[in-house]
Amino acid sequence: MPESTITLHQITAAEAIPIRAEVLRSGLPLSAASYICDEHPAVYHAGAYVDGKLIGVATVFPDLPPKSENELAWRLRGMAVCDNFRGLGIGRLLLGNCIEHVGEMGGNLLWCNARTPVLEFYSVMGFHPVGDEFMIPVSGPHYLMSRKIS
Ligand SMILES: CC(C)(COP(=O)(O)OP(=O)(O)OC[C@H]1O[C@@H](n2cnc3c(N)ncnc32)[C@H](O)[C@@H]1OP(=O)(O)O)[C@@H](O)C(=O)NCCC(=O)NCCS
Repeated sequence: MPESTITLHQITAAEAIPIRAEVLRSGLPLSAASYICDEHPAVYHAGAYVDGKLIGVATVFPDLPPKSENELAWRLRGMAVCDNFRGLGIGRLLLGNCIEHVGEMGGNLLWCNARTPVLEFYSVMGFHPVGDEFMIPVSGPHYLMSRKIS
């Protein structure tokens, strides 16, 4: 993408949903890419644009991790970069933007259910697996992963 410009900014759930659907819920109705957290008053959606076109999204919101009472924890959902734009650093930019937002909001931990095939992406971004692999219907094997936020 030598001539392309990447920009990043906050978007709405309505903007994030079609990208989630394409990347994470392929073959399912658009409604399958709508999350309950989209209604959370503190939810934050980051969007990455290449030459003005939305090609990547990520969502964070305050949420307790399983078996934890850490009320300063936030959760990441809907981490998705469109097929042709992967491996270019856009996921890193999106997740970095979310980590920065969580820190600004006073969060001390970010966790997610990470798809096993992309575990390495989260490791590179400072996340560690917590516990054993588990299955989520439709989307397959996952690990719970988390990282501290300072
Ligand atoms: C996972 C995903 C968001 C990563 O986005 P991306 O833009 O391709 O990632 P980046 O180019 O920013 O990569 C950042 C780092 O993670 C590594 N990485 C990214 N995807 C990886 C993968 N699938 N396997 C191994 N390493 C990976 C990169 O090598 C890079 O490391 P480096 O900076 O040391 O070179 C993207 O591939 C995607 O949307 N995949 C399909 C949907 C999905 O599985 N989402 C996660 C649901 S839990």
